[in-house]
Amino acid sequence: MPTVLVTGANRGLGLEWVRQYSEDNWSVIACVRKASAATELQALGAKRSKQIEIHALDVTDFAAIDALAAQLKGRAIDVLINNAGTMGAQNFATGGLSAGRFGVSDFDDWVQVFRINAFAPMKMAEAFVEHVERSEQKKIVSLSSIVGSMGKNSVGGLYGYRGSKAALNAIMHSMGIDLARKHGICAVPLHPGWARTAMGGERADIDPVTSVTGMRKVIAALTLEDTGRFLMYDGSELPW
Ligand SMILES: NC(=O)c1ccc[n+]([C@@H]2O[C@H](COP(=O)([O-])OP(=O)(O)OC[C@H]3O[C@@H](n4cnc5c(N)ncnc54)[C@H](OP(=O)(O)O)[C@@H]3O)[C@@H](O)[C@H]2O)c1
Repeated sequence: MPTVLVTGANRGLGLEWVRQYSEDNWSVIACVRKASAATELQALGAKRSKQIEIHALDVTDFAAIDALAAQLKGRAIDVLINNAGTMGAQNFATGGLSAGRFGVSDFDDWVQVFRINAFAPMKMAEAFVEHVERSEQKKIVSLSSIVGSMGKNSVGGLYGYRGSKAALNAIMHSMGIDLARKHGICAVPLHPGWARTAMGGERADIDPVTSVTGMRKVIAALTLEDTGRFLMYDGSELPW
């Protein structure tokens, strides 16, 4: 039974990863900020107790990341999914591109957004690299966004969130090179599509089931040859 670790598994795409991988008989390490408040995940965990284990993890707490890595020492993790993410005070679902427009930047908020979206995936990879290396599949994916692509940005705006995902892309690009070479691990960023979650909003293109089904297919097909690519949930490639 392969093992996947997912951060931000309380709701949205995070919960859907847990639902689909556990249904497929994977062993799922589901990490959530507040385990006691994760009622849907707890209910799923109770139903599939052989597959799902739930851990409290706020990804901004780097000591807690190290503690979880130590607790899970010796466990093989086939796929590490850095899913937790935030737009901070910017709300694309209600504000569209006017959220995060020029002239109103809240840099304290940006610091938190960057810590969750860019620093935490790096910290998770550093903490869990040995777990992933000892697995069969050896994959690390981070949920990025098309708005982090320079090549796709012709509209401006969304500075904080966009900047954090562009930073994440740069980090994943470097990580892909380093980990392929030294650890045989494939590390890539993935864009989930515009998905109907609290973040994506109701007008989004696809539902979480479609997004995660697509990304799981992409992940299953990943090889070291994909290092250096920025992929969408449907397998198509995005420009950096
Ligand atoms: N939906 C889209 O259209 C879309 C498009 C592009 C990229 N993405 C990316 O896809 C990922 C998932 O997005 P989503 O749409 O599922 O968003 P969402 O519905 O807003 O869910 C975000 C999840 O991240 C968790 N999270 C936030 N801060 C955290 C922290 N400090 N520690 C641990 N968990 C934390 C949240 O936990 P709580 O429940 O405790 O708040 C929640 O479970 C994100 O990285 C997002 O940037 C989404």
